Amino acid sequence: MAEQAIKAGQRVSELRCIGCGRIALADRFRCEHCRDLLETIYPGWDERGPAGLDHTSLKRLWNERHSSLEPADQSGVWRFREILPEIPREQIITIREGNTPVYELPRCAKAAGVDQLLAKHQGMNPTGSFKDTGMTVAASFARQAGYRWVACASTGNTSASMAAYAARGGLHSLVLIPDGKISWSKLSQSLDYGALTCQLKTDFDGCVRVLNEVVERMPVYLLNSVNPYRVEGQKTVAFELLEHLGWESPDHIIVPGGNLANSSAIGKALREMKQLGFISRLPKISVIQAEGANPLVRTIRETDGERLIPVHADTMATAIRIGNPASWKKALRVIRETDGTVEQVSEIEIALAKAEIGAEGIGCEPASAVTLAGLKKLVKQGFVKRHESVVLVLTGHVLKDAEFTLKFHRGDLFAGTPYESESATLKSHQRSPLVLDPSVDAVIELLRSAEQ
Ligand code: F0G
Repeated sequence: MAEQAIKAGQRVSELRCIGCGRIALADRFRCEHCRDLLETIYPGWDERGPAGLDHTSLKRLWNERHSSLEPADQSGVWRFREILPEIPREQIITIREGNTPVYELPRCAKAAGVDQLLAKHQGMNPTGSFKDTGMTVAASFARQAGYRWVACASTGNTSASMAAYAARGGLHSLVLIPDGKISWSKLSQSLDYGALTCQLKTDFDGCVRVLNEVVERMPVYLLNSVNPYRVEGQKTVAFELLEHLGWESPDHIIVPGGNLANSSAIGKALREMKQLGFISRLPKISVIQAEGANPLVRTIRETDGERLIPVHADTMATAIRIGNPASWKKALRVIRETDGTVEQVSEIEIALAKAEIGAEGIGCEPASAVTLAGLKKLVKQGFVKRHESVVLVLTGHVLKDAEFTLKFHRGDLFAGTPYESESATLKSHQRSPLVLDPSVDAVIELLRSAEQ
């Protein structure tokens, strides 16, 4: 039924400027009149609902697709295709992204001071980060629109994801990353998937500036998160989460903030779910940044959201080492609309939270751990109440930054930094590898002492 509706052309999306409201061409990133960002709208939904279906039929349809062997149905993004821009099935590039697990984190809940804590682990996507959910849509659009080259500036995860989707879709990809400022595992992914990879002697914000000019001059399709199709794909994490929760909204969703597209995407999804009758109330969406990369926190606290305060970003959570976030207006709207908040956390707080998530047998990369560190602060402030339901969005896999993890456990993560003396508080969480003689007695003795 949905397929027929789609064939009949009932599902139409458009790009609209978030500033002046003008409609833009399908392959643009900014409004030609006021230069603001674009977002996807679906005018047909008002009268007919997505693909002519109501929320009850959509829930059933999406659930049925779990048992299908079709690639698009096996994707946790395209399974929800009625609420996405239309892409012909043969143009879809999927690596079976989405369908990520929701885990209970009982020990982290205790550490944070809440009764129950869930984590939606987007690091369990094919390239190890949430970027895959957006990339499948934007890369498919690029292929459908006839582009041969795609490009991004990245702190490492977008580039890994883009390189993979470009390779799967037969496209060439260009990656600009800050030299020495991304984890080697992310860099290695981009090389392995065949991207033309350039390390620029600047930071992420500098890479964005260079790339914006390159795409003006060359027929290259930009896959940074200002790309409105990426936001649409990233939206599906919220549909998937709410489906998992039986379409009951949690009280809080907590998201890390870098370029601020992910919080925007999750907020857009919830707005649409409410509009379409999937849910009756919005969860509060809160965005957590690292203290050293806190432009949104400063923007809200110092200008009440009037104008962006860019910062010179510095944090060991390299994924969110971003000082001039492109999607700040969209994220601000989401925080206001959902009565959420912003918070910032220190390097020590991030390292501790990452170790606590690791000790649950789950793990994540440092940028994802800001969510737990932020939650602890929000509980202390009384913004999150003990009995309220909270979902952390973990954005990247623990193997994305093995160097951080190793240094943490060896005890030298903060050596030579201003945090060195404070880092003594982390000792009880560190498990350094032990070097022993190859002797049975030595191992047994160690085991005995560990049991005490
Ligand atoms: N978490 C991880 C693991 C990330 O890689 C990023 C962003 C974020 C959180 C922040 O998400 O930008 O939507 O607010 N990484 C980008 C990249 C910038 O290039 O990989 P955001």
